Amino acid sequence: MAVILLTGASGSIGQMLRQRLGHHELRLTDVRAGNGVEALDVTHAAAVERACRGADAIVHLGGIAGEGPFEDVLDVNVRGTERVLQAAHDAGVPRVVLASSNHAAGLYERGDAGPAGLADDVPPRPDSYYGWSKAAMEALGRLYHDRYGIHVSCLRIGSCAEEPENPRDLSAWLSPGDAARLVEAALTATGWRLVWGVSANTRRWWSEEGGRAIGYRPRDDAERWAAKVGEPDLSAPEHRLVGGTMPESPLGGPT
Ligand SMILES: NC(=O)c1ccc[n+]([C@@H]2O[C@H](COP(=O)([O-])OP(=O)(O)OC[C@H]3O[C@@H](n4cnc5c(N)ncnc54)[C@H](O)[C@@H]3O)[C@@H](O)[C@H]2O)c1
Repeated sequence: MAVILLTGASGSIGQMLRQRLGHHELRLTDVRAGNGVEALDVTHAAAVERACRGADAIVHLGGIAGEGPFEDVLDVNVRGTERVLQAAHDAGVPRVVLASSNHAAGLYERGDAGPAGLADDVPPRPDSYYGWSKAAMEALGRLYHDRYGIHVSCLRIGSCAEEPENPRDLSAWLSPGDAARLVEAALTATGWRLVWGVSANTRRWWSEEGGRAIGYRPRDDAERWAAKVGEPDLSAPEHRLVGGTMPESPLGGPT
């Protein structure tokens, strides 16, 4: 059992994880407090440092989870992540799991994938300010690993929901159970890593290698919902690109 600080614990993935990681001692925090979640704004350095003391690991989910104005994603996602990593260093927390996103690499196409799928560690190719902020988070994680030896796993999460909701999810879905399995694996990983966060989907086209290397064994497959969500039109950009419809949305605007 480890002491784990969870940021963004009131959010969608935070709620999925708190139900499934209860065998650890969880410190649940979010800017939206309540229901067992303590108030913590990740942009407040001193408060983050206090929250980190005595923790074995941080799972950093808190932030803006979609496209937004540049200044907002810079402030919350990038500055907030710097505060989390610096606090980990100051408080001696050895391991940080960062919620990155497929949108950090959203402009890669199916044609860029080799036989083993699109590599987990393709260089960033953001499709939005949001995706850019996730790429910046990944790079900050690398900096804190290289300078201070903190183990940092950056999870390039696909589409995490209770069930697949649209044809894109047939390849990009991450089930709640697999999200917990992925975070568990990342909590034992060493070094600095980029790992796709998707389930064992039949139509997955992002590599399994990064996950396999840290002991992630996904169990769920979106294919069960194929009849319900409908077939993707693979000639449409939203099914050809990693980032789905995000690359067609206005920069900084609502998605
Ligand atoms: N859900 C997905 O499919 C998906 C896909 C890719 C990446 N991600 C990433 O995973 C993380 C969690 O996603 P989610 O779907 O649960 O999003 P969410 O919006 O449901 O939850 C994010 C949480 O962060 C909190 N938050 C916002 N600003 C904060 C701040 N300054 N300090 C502390 N907390 C703050 C919000 O209150 C919210 O509860 C996000 O970082 C998101 O970018 C999610």
